[in-house]
Amino acid sequence: MNENLPMTDLPAESLTDRRARLMGPNVPTFYRSPVHIIRGEGVWLWDAQGKRYLDCYNNVPHVGHCHPRVVAAIAAQAARLNTHTRYLHDAVLDYIERLTARLDHGLSQAIMTCTGSEANDIALRMAQAATRATGVIATDNTYHGNTAAVSQLSTRRPPIGGRAPWVRLVPAPDRLIAPGQPAGDAGARFAAHVAETIAELQAAGYGFSAMMLCPVFANEGMPAAPPGFLDATMRAIRAAGGLMIADEVQPGFGRTGSHFWGHDRMGFAPDIVTMGKPMANGHPVAAVVARPQVMAAFRENFGYFNTFGGNPVSAAACLATLDVIEEEGLQDNAATIGAYLLERMRALHHPFLRDVRGVGLFFALEFFDGDTPATDFTGDLVEAMVARGFLLNRLGRGQNILKIRPPMPFAREHADLLADALQQALDAARHG
Ligand SMILES: Cc1ncc(COP(=O)(O)O)c(C=O)c1O
Repeated sequence: MNENLPMTDLPAESLTDRRARLMGPNVPTFYRSPVHIIRGEGVWLWDAQGKRYLDCYNNVPHVGHCHPRVVAAIAAQAARLNTHTRYLHDAVLDYIERLTARLDHGLSQAIMTCTGSEANDIALRMAQAATRATGVIATDNTYHGNTAAVSQLSTRRPPIGGRAPWVRLVPAPDRLIAPGQPAGDAGARFAAHVAETIAELQAAGYGFSAMMLCPVFANEGMPAAPPGFLDATMRAIRAAGGLMIADEVQPGFGRTGSHFWGHDRMGFAPDIVTMGKPMANGHPVAAVVARPQVMAAFRENFGYFNTFGGNPVSAAACLATLDVIEEEGLQDNAATIGAYLLERMRALHHPFLRDVRGVGLFFALEFFDGDTPATDFTGDLVEAMVARGFLLNRLGRGQNILKIRPPMPFAREHADLLADALQQALDAARHG
């Protein structure tokens, strides 16, 4: 460095360049110009320039960014003790008791982990232990996490060396239900694909251990699969002696409004439920819940210990998050505000807007230019909304579906701000 140069003459390294230098290439960021957030409160976020954004996207700060109750619980427990589950501690047991009280179908035991990926990894191994088979089925447009085993189920980037032959993907409901159209016999067609795939796995000698899916098919673009859609699939799975794993990472903890869990809204009884993101309002916690027989099979076949999973600070964060969900009536809020915002978004108009669907506080707005997914249009719309101070994103095979999934304290005034801004951005897109 030239000591004589004043500091201001040194080329400033951007945060993006610094990330690349320190974290390597291809570390994902949202948006064409990544947003540098420095503070959050409730449903609001502020960037380094002081610009305020309405958070219409993030489900991890489930009860609102930096909720004081959760912050205080974390701080108090961190100041007292943080160890791990090899020492006895009440808090993790108190939490599992409260969590499993919210689950039916005999789902009464849990393993605490730090990420949804870990939870799903365990769930796959539980199913293998319980069935002594290895075959796994997922949909062909999904994501369930990033461990070596679970990323076999992801469709975004095929695994190096190809997908393991015991992992098979069936057409996701977004292939079976046309946008804006009723589901019709799509549930039966989905089940037929599952049954056929089970037979293939059995014929190939792998047997069938489990199907893993998200009960609202969130990463699949939240196609309009109605309650009952999986009834025939469940019959096919049961007939084959396999298990159903419900990945509740996205719909869990009241987001659907009508139900605390996505599988209860859909009306099926999973054998294993995994959960994560919203569980501790941003503190890294996830879990896998199972029936005792399934848990026992796992414990007998695998030694499992997770250094950080279920530690006292995490348990405190989980307990406080559950308290807030209950005391602030956030599931009911998701139902009421979800219905209101859906109505407002159904009134949006633009020639490309083909379908507006929602489940509680989770919405998908799908755009087509004629028969072609309006990929670029939707990308531009996301950017235009960010410029207007609204954080949201997109998903779908064609990246033509606007994804809106705000923190749960989203109120009517926020719904109005969002719907008004969306219409303005759509009008600007038409005229621009
Ligand atoms: C449905 C689903 N399952 C699992 C995961 C993985 O969770 P985590 O990132 O906590 O490992 C994700 C993450 O996006 C997800 O969307």
